Formats: sequence, structure tokens, C-alpha cells
Amino acid sequence: MDDAKRPQQLRLAVIFLGPPGAGKGTQAKKLAAKCGVPHLSTGDMFREHVMQDTELGRLAKPIMHAGGLVPDELVLGMVADRLKRQDCERGFVFDGFPRTLPQADQLGKILAEHGFGKPIVIHFVVDRDEILRRLTGRRMCRDCGAIYHQYSNPPRVPGICDNDGSTLYQRVDDSEEVIGPRLDAFFKQTEPLVKYYRDQGVLADIEAAGEVETVARSVRAAVAAAKSKAQ
Ligand code: AP5
Repeated sequence: MDDAKRPQQLRLAVIFLGPPGAGKGTQAKKLAAKCGVPHLSTGDMFREHVMQDTELGRLAKPIMHAGGLVPDELVLGMVADRLKRQDCERGFVFDGFPRTLPQADQLGKILAEHGFGKPIVIHFVVDRDEILRRLTGRRMCRDCGAIYHQYSNPPRVPGICDNDGSTLYQRVDDSEEVIGPRLDAFFKQTEPLVKYYRDQGVLADIEAAGEVETVARSVRAAVAAAKSKAQ
């Protein structure tokens, strides 16, 4: 972010907070496209590193495949690098970051340094049965990152991406053995951020169990309300 060139309009720092499979990625892609800002998924960034077999990818891979959280210093270094890119000047939608209190504290400092003010935090509320249904049925495109669900959002041709014809795959961490540890990590390390941001008056709860378009409307309404409060 080049402070000298920063546009003066209100900039958007949105955080999607919620358990694995709550629909953060699905909704973050939509909101980011609508607002013309990048969708920053730390999970996607790590998966890219794993695919490229970088040093960071080699460190993150066993942790991700076991359902744990990658250490804060690795996450923060990767995020700080990403935020230096010019496309972040007008804002961004974070999906899966921050996930621990130290990550949230550090992000607060970065936002303040770059004149962003407080983030808008959208908290996805959804029950465990729906989480399990969503994660076990998820299929992804390795090439374009599109997210499908076998039953609730299937591709036109089973197993094939609508956008580019690539073969869809199932994430290693979407197996039933890894979903348990991922949920444990969420409740122990990430859920405390709900109180952290609620106490700052920047968190909006949204009911995430509905249809994709219903949830998208709730997200847009929550962001619009937060923006008008901030102006
Ligand atoms: P990450 O990729 O961030 O995974 P996650 O947070 O566990 O979230 P998911 O991607 O599983 O779910 P989602 O909420 O995005 O749901 P989606 O939209 O896909 O992280 C992976 C790993 O990387 C972590 O475990 C950790 O190891 C590491 N990591 C990443 N960030 C880190 C950080 N900050 N610190 C430390 N470690 C980090 O939807 C799920 C399914 O449901 C899809 O099939 C979708 O089609 C379907 N669906 C979505 N919405 C609806 C709806 N409304 N109705 C019906 N179906 C729906």
C-alpha cells in the first residue's frame, strides 16, 4: 500500500469470521467482486504455497493436513507481504484471517498504520450438522478456485468445473478425521475473536445457514450498515 497515492474515499477492510465450512470463501468471493477489492484467503495462499512446494508450503502442509493452525509468525509474514500489493489500496475482504488474538492485534496495527480505521467484522453463525454437511460435500477447482457442493451447489457436469473444465478435487482436510481437529482449533483459538471484535463494536452476526443468495444479502446489508456508521 503506497500511502502517498492512497485514494481519499472510504476504504474497506472486511473480515469474515466463522467456523470451517460456514461459507466464508463462497461469500468473500461475491462481496470482493461486488466491491472491486481483492479476496484475501490465507487458506488459499497456503494451499498455493503447498502446490508450488515452497519452503512456506512445506512448513504449512503437515499442520494443515492435521487440522491445526499455522504458527502466527508465518501467517503474519505472508499477509504483510500480500498487503504491500497495489490492489489492496482500496481495501480487501479477509477470509480466514485473523484466526488468533495475536493475529488480530497485529492486523489492528497494520490497519492503523495505513489509515484504514477499524475493520468491519462479519461473524458467520451456523450449526455443527450444517458445517459437516457442507465440508464433506465440498469440491474445489484447483485452477480457478471455484467452490462447489455435491448437492447444494453442483457443477453442471459432475466433477468438472463450470468455468474452465478442470477436474474438481476434494480438499485433504475435508475428510471426517480432519474436520474434528479443525473445529477444535476454531473453538479454542479463533472463537475468542468474536468477543474481541464485539467489544470493539465492529462485529455483526449473520445467520449463515440459509441459501447462498440469502446469506449474500445479509452480508451486504451488514457491510452497508457498518459503512454508514463509520461515515
Ligand atoms: P481455510 O482454507 O481458511 O479453511 P477454513 O477456515 O477451515 O474454512 P473453509 O475454507 O473450510 O470454509 P468456508 O467457510 O470458506 O466455506 P466455503 O465457502 O468453502 O484454512 C485451511 C487451513 O489453512 C487451516 O486449517 C489452517 O491450517 C491454515 N490457515 C489458514 N489461515 C490461517 C490463519 N489465519 N492462521 C493459521 N492457520 C491458517 O463453503 C463450504 C461448502 O459449503 C462449499 O461446498 C460450499 O459450496 C457450501 N456452501 C457455502 N455456502 C452455502 C450455503 N449458504 N448453503 C449451502 N451450501 C453452502
